[in-house]
Amino acid sequence: MADSIRVDTEPPYEVRIGRGILGEVAPVVASHTSAVLITDSRVAELHREALQGMDEIATCALEPGEQTKSLACLERVLSFMAREGLDRASCVITLGGGVVGDLGGLAAALYMRGITFYACPTSLLAQVDASIGGKTAVNLPEGKNLAGAFHQPRGVWADTDVLATLEEEEWCSGLGEMLKTALVGGERTLAALEEGAQALRARDGESLETLIASCITIKARVVAADPDELDGRRVLNLGHSFGHAIERVAGFGKIPHGIAVAAGLALALDCSRRSGVLDDPGLFERTARLAERLGLPQSLRALREQTGLALDAGQLAESMQLDKKGRQGAVRLVLVRAPGKLIPGVEADPGLLAEVLA
Ligand SMILES: NC(=O)c1ccc[n+]([C@@H]2O[C@H](COP(=O)([O-])OP(=O)(O)OC[C@H]3O[C@@H](n4cnc5c(N)ncnc54)[C@H](O)[C@@H]3O)[C@@H](O)[C@H]2O)c1
Repeated sequence: MADSIRVDTEPPYEVRIGRGILGEVAPVVASHTSAVLITDSRVAELHREALQGMDEIATCALEPGEQTKSLACLERVLSFMAREGLDRASCVITLGGGVVGDLGGLAAALYMRGITFYACPTSLLAQVDASIGGKTAVNLPEGKNLAGAFHQPRGVWADTDVLATLEEEEWCSGLGEMLKTALVGGERTLAALEEGAQALRARDGESLETLIASCITIKARVVAADPDELDGRRVLNLGHSFGHAIERVAGFGKIPHGIAVAAGLALALDCSRRSGVLDDPGLFERTARLAERLGLPQSLRALREQTGLALDAGQLAESMQLDKKGRQGAVRLVLVRAPGKLIPGVEADPGLLAEVLA
């Protein structure tokens, strides 16, 4: 049975979660004058057919991977849409991970100043996080997601059947964002993730759907309260200033996003602990233990060892300055007081940053 979670933005939309639900998309798309499907070649090969009744829809299958989130690929997709004759009443369907969702969503936001898009996230990370909330973007060589727009999808279908084909590394990447969401959500979600950690690693169906749904519920709640990230939504960036810098210094595509974020969470907690804002210093070790059980790096050092990459402290600090969350050169972090109690926008002390990144 499929679950439905409403995202109360303007206009609101439903996120459907369940097994074999991609067949629901065709009738919705049929109400538009025309449509294109944006996907990547790997996902197209594995799951294009699950979108029953959509064989005729023009498909743009991009190269899989983070490098695809570029201005060059965005231009390719926009030209594809124009050549297919899309008009203002047409729609875009994205089928893929966060890369396809972010890029396809941005193309929909820009084409004729904005047309409808529907998201069919196929990676764990995209199902629990990237497909909800309307943040769309491409990367610039200078940094992650530097060119983007807010453009909410009009419907999301998270079909859990497609997750079976995810590579282990991509699975863990999704678990990284789930760990972040649990810290944002609060003690109950964190405890549920601890309880479900083993089943999650084993991709156990039943608890998986429940945990995915609870992450989506948290994200939907935070997004609805602040769709344009003017204030409260910034808590969702927990670990991301570090994570984005790690991704950039490693070279986009070398370290999956959620794995970089997991190391970023450890660093954000370390900063919280060292600056004395953490209510219970035990949360640092507790999160590290959970990360380990989920197959995630518990620290920057662990990530360096795991990847064999130097991830130089100076380069990471420099990259953080460029991160779009920085204001006039100051690096701003989300710090943690306790699960569910986060402090966004804290200006990071350069000395402290150098210590935790060493
Ligand atoms: N918009 C947001 O709010 C938001 C939130 C978090 C992350 N993101 C972005 O999302 C991106 C990361 O997303 P991602 O981890 O999904 O990466 P991705 O889209 O690159 O997908 C990872 C890999 O998994 C493959 N894949 C996807 N679904 C599959 C399936 N069902 N079976 C087999 N292989 C499959 C893809 O082909 C790709 O090779 C980053 O660019 C990140 O910045 C956006």
